[in-house]
Amino acid sequence: MIRLAKETDVDQTAELHAKHIKPLLLFAELGKPFLKILHRSLIKSRYGVIVVSEIDSKIAGFCSAAYDAPAAARELVLKKFHLLLLTVLSAVLKKPAILKKIIQLFIHLQKTKKDPIRAEFLTIVVEPGHRKQGIAAKMFDLMKAEMKAKGIKKVRNSAVHDDIAVNRMSHKFNFELAGTFYLYGIKMNLYHYNVE
Ligand SMILES: CC(C)(COP(=O)(O)OP(=O)(O)OC[C@H]1O[C@@H](n2cnc3c(N)ncnc32)[C@H](O)[C@@H]1OP(=O)(O)O)[C@@H](O)C(=O)NCCC(=O)NCCS
Repeated sequence: MIRLAKETDVDQTAELHAKHIKPLLLFAELGKPFLKILHRSLIKSRYGVIVVSEIDSKIAGFCSAAYDAPAAARELVLKKFHLLLLTVLSAVLKKPAILKKIIQLFIHLQKTKKDPIRAEFLTIVVEPGHRKQGIAAKMFDLMKAEMKAKGIKKVRNSAVHDDIAVNRMSHKFNFELAGTFYLYGIKMNLYHYNVE
C-alpha cells in the first residue's frame, strides 16, 4: 500500500534512511536519532511530506520532500533547536569530521536560498529485497499528486553524479538535468522537475 507517512512510521523510515543512504551524505551520517527528528518534522509540517510503501505491515520504502525547503529547514531549527543541538553535538563528538560537512551544508543552503524553486525532493529509499518492482515509481506518483494538490509547479532534486540507479531513475521520472555542483567534495547533479 502506498500512503502518506504517519508519525508512528518514523522509526522505520529513519532506519531505512540511516541504513541505505550513502554515509558520505551528511543527514545519513548524523544517524538515526537525527533522522527521526527530521522525518517527524517533515510529516507534521505544512512544508513537508513523506510517502511510504507498506508491505505486510512493514515500511518497505519511503520518499520525502519539502514543498518549501528553506521554510521547512527554518521551522525544524526553530521548533527543535535543543534536540537538534544535542543529536548533532553527539554525532560530532563521535566523528569530528562531521563538523566540516555541517559548515559545507550551511554554505550550500545559503546559495540555494536564492533559487526561485523552493520545493525539493529530498530522499528516496526502497528496502533492497523490494527493489526493481516499481515501488519507487509508485511512491513518486503519490508524491507528484501531493505536489500538484499544493499548487507546486517546479521541484528541484539533487543526486550523487556517479550513482547510476538514482540518475537512471531521475531520467525515467522525467527530471531535467539543470547543472552540477559540489557538496562535501562530491559531484552532484541538480535536476528540475515540472509537476504536470
Ligand atoms: C533508487 C531506488 C530508490 C529505486 O527504487 P526501486 O523501487 O527499485 O525503483 P523502481 O523499481 O520504481 O524503478 C524505477 C526506475 O529507476 C531505475 N532504476 C532502479 N533501480 C536501478 C538500478 N539498480 N540500476 C539502474 N536503474 C535503476 C530504472 O530506470 C527504473 O525504471 P525501469 O525499471 O522501468 O527501467 C533504490 O534503488 C534505492 O533505494 N537505492 C538506495 C537509496 C538511494 O540511493 N536513494 C537515492 C538517493 S536519495
